[in-house]
Amino acid sequence: MTAPYELLVRDLTVARDRTLLLTDLDEPELLRQHDPLMSPMVWDLAHIGQQEDLWLLRGGEAGRPGVLPVQVEALYDAFTHPRAVRAALPLLPPVEARGYVAAVRDRVLDRIATATPDDDPFDVAMVVSHEEQHGETMLQTLQLRRGPALLGTGAALPPGRPGVAGTSVLVAGGPFELGVDGTSEPFSLDNERPAHTVDVPAFRIGRVPVTNAEYARFVADGGYTTARWWSARGWAHVADAGLQRPMSWHADGTRTRFGVVEEVPGDEPVQHVTHFEAEAYATWAGARLPTEQEWEKAAVWDPTTGRRRRFPWGDTEPTPTLVNSGGTALRPAPVGAYPAGASPYGVEQLLGDVWEWTASDFTAWPGFTPMLYAQYSEPFFGGDYKVLRGGSWAVGASVLRPSFRNWDHLQRRQVFSGFRLAWDA
Ligand code: AVJ
Ligand code: FE
Repeated sequence: MTAPYELLVRDLTVARDRTLLLTDLDEPELLRQHDPLMSPMVWDLAHIGQQEDLWLLRGGEAGRPGVLPVQVEALYDAFTHPRAVRAALPLLPPVEARGYVAAVRDRVLDRIATATPDDDPFDVAMVVSHEEQHGETMLQTLQLRRGPALLGTGAALPPGRPGVAGTSVLVAGGPFELGVDGTSEPFSLDNERPAHTVDVPAFRIGRVPVTNAEYARFVADGGYTTARWWSARGWAHVADAGLQRPMSWHADGTRTRFGVVEEVPGDEPVQHVTHFEAEAYATWAGARLPTEQEWEKAAVWDPTTGRRRRFPWGDTEPTPTLVNSGGTALRPAPVGAYPAGASPYGVEQLLGDVWEWTASDFTAWPGFTPMLYAQYSEPFFGGDYKVLRGGSWAVGASVLRPSFRNWDHLQRRQVFSGFRLAWDA
């Protein structure tokens, strides 16, 4: 087996271990629709196997027979069955779903064992990314679930630093290279490519994401009852959805996190806010949200060398002293926890912790070419979505890339979503 495949087998195993851990629950928990926004977790489980079967055993040719009978496989097509109706489908029971994903994986490993240096491992990396993204989706489901805690309170995190919340850095105007190519990031997904030069006027950006304590001041200042901080759509949504504070916060200063009720920690990045709430906070604070271009420049551009770094801190792989990711913490780290993870401009906690809402719509970079999974990005370009950047505490390593682009509807907040501020300079 060639070196990239050896690493990918490790990544497949890490992703699968997490999938099996997250679905190691009693059958009713897996079969239940915990929220209309989410699939029953047993659907995510078998869908992970179905996608792996389609892309890695059949090269994406859906007409070729797969491991499941065709009518059963059809239950796991995300485009035919919206999430809200999936619990009513005749889904594979948990035991069969586990057997299915294991059978697919065995065949995939057999196929990989005979790969030659001429084979392109991109398809395997794409499937790792798919499984890891569904791992984060299942954590969203478990956060929405009601009932006693199942996951504990999460692994330890480094302490924060006082004095960083509310501070910002200046990014001088000028061109930088946005996006990546298959040569620099062979496992980047289609929407991150191609690399191209963009000119970004000078701006300031928050050194760290906006914290719970900062956000609580907006709530206390009547943020949710004052129309002028909100866009017209945002204000309508506040009324329709009855928003009063971030998702999972209570009026008494506590929150529920995976079934555990605790004080809202003031120094953690705020999470579970909609794009509307992020934008309203920014307006209240005399700021705005960064564009994707600004965010990525602040994250990777090195003005001294005039080149991109692979990660904000340099070209070395992420470690637990640089970033909070992988899902074990079950929460973002306090601001200032990762000084060694800072970008050349001194911006911190860009990767991991919370997905950061940007001001940007989800569109194709010029020269976009769809990948093997052609329906991954293209159907969503130009839709009613805003881009989120940087990954969260819940993402796996394959999603932790400064060029990675996530997107969601503006009113969604089951995502581990926060934001940082920006200002014209
Ligand atoms: C990129 C997170 C928006 O969950 O809808 C999973 C990822 N695509 N299966 C989503 C995805 C197909 C996607 N997001
Ligand atoms: Fe999927």
